Amino acid sequence: MKTVHVKTSKSYNVLIGHGLLNRCGELISQVCSPGTAAIITDDIVYALYAGITEMSLTDAGFRVVKFVFSSGEKSKNMAVLNEILEFLAGEELTKSDLVVALGGGVVGDLAGFAAACFKRGIPFVQIPTTFLAAIDSSVGGKTAVNLAAGKNLAGAFYQPKLVICDTDIISALPPGLFSNGLAEAIKYGFISDPILFERLSAGSPRQELEDSIYRCVLSKAEIVGKDEFDGGLRQLLNFGHTAGHAIEKCSNFTVSHGHAVSMGMVIAARAALSLGLSNEDCLSPILKALNNNGLPVSCPYSAEELTGAALSDKKRSGGRINLIIPRKIGQCHIHKIDVSQLPGFIAAGLGD
Ligand code: GLY
Repeated sequence: MKTVHVKTSKSYNVLIGHGLLNRCGELISQVCSPGTAAIITDDIVYALYAGITEMSLTDAGFRVVKFVFSSGEKSKNMAVLNEILEFLAGEELTKSDLVVALGGGVVGDLAGFAAACFKRGIPFVQIPTTFLAAIDSSVGGKTAVNLAAGKNLAGAFYQPKLVICDTDIISALPPGLFSNGLAEAIKYGFISDPILFERLSAGSPRQELEDSIYRCVLSKAEIVGKDEFDGGLRQLLNFGHTAGHAIEKCSNFTVSHGHAVSMGMVIAARAALSLGLSNEDCLSPILKALNNNGLPVSCPYSAEELTGAALSDKKRSGGRINLIIPRKIGQCHIHKIDVSQLPGFIAAGLGD
C-alpha cells in the first residue's frame, strides 16, 4: 500500500493499494471513531461494492445505513442533494458520524457536498471506484452539484477525512471507464511528472497501476497543498480543459470527459507550438502518448464552435482567460490572454 499525505487546511491521507475495500472499516476506524456510517452510492456501484463495504464497516463496529441513487450526471442536482440531507437527518446522524462516498465523481461530489452542508459539516470518506475519481475528484476537496445554469455551480471546498483507493477496483474497470481516467493520468505526467509520462506513453497503462495512481495523486496533492482554494496554481490541473470542456459542451456531453481532455491537450500543445509559447515541441510526445493508448487526438468541432462554448466557461474571469501552456514535458505554466485572442489560439490549436 502507498500513502499520499494531502497537506490542506485539514490534512488527510490517500491510501492506494490492492484489497483495501475489504479493510475499509478498519482503515476508517483509525480516523473516525465508530458511529453511524452513511454509505452514499449509485445503483451500479451498489450492486458491485456496497456489500463488501458494509461488511467491513460493520465488522469494525459501525452502524451502517445506505442511500442509493440512480447512476449518472443527471442525479447530481439539488433534488437528490435534498433527499440525501433528509436521509441523514432521518437517520439522526451527528457530527461524530460520517458519510462514506462510494463511487465515481458524481457520487463523490454529491456525497461530499451533502457532508459539507449537513449540520454545517460532518466527516466524510471518499472511496473512489473509477480511475478518474481515484486520481482527480476524490482528492482536493471540491464538492458540488449542477444547477440548471451549468455544471458545479453550487458547491464547497470540503476535504475528506480519508481517501481509500482500492486498485483492484480500478484494474477491473471496463476499457471505456479506464480510458476516461487514463487521459487525466497522462495529463499529470505531462504537467508535472516526466517519468509517469514516459511510462504511460508506452501504451501499457495497466502495468504498474498502483504506482501510476500514486504518482497522479502525489502531483495533485502537491498542487492542492499550495493552492487549496483554486486561486491560481491549481489551474495547472486544467491543462487541456479549456478546449476539453468546450468539446464536452459542443457534443452535448456525449463525448466523455477524458476523451474531451485528450483532444483538448492536443489543441493546447499544437497552439503553444505554433504560437511560439513552448520551449520545445510538446505536440509530438503528447500525440504519441495519446495514440499509443487509443485516445482521440482529432477534434470534430470548428474553431467557431469551440470558442463559443469556451466563452461561456466558468474559468473566464472578466475579459481575460487563463490558458495552461506546456513549457516542456513535466512543466506547464499559466498564460493569461484577452478573450479576443481565444479564437486565434483555438484556430492555431486545430491547425487551421
Ligand atoms: N479537478 C480539478 C481540481 O480539483 O482542481
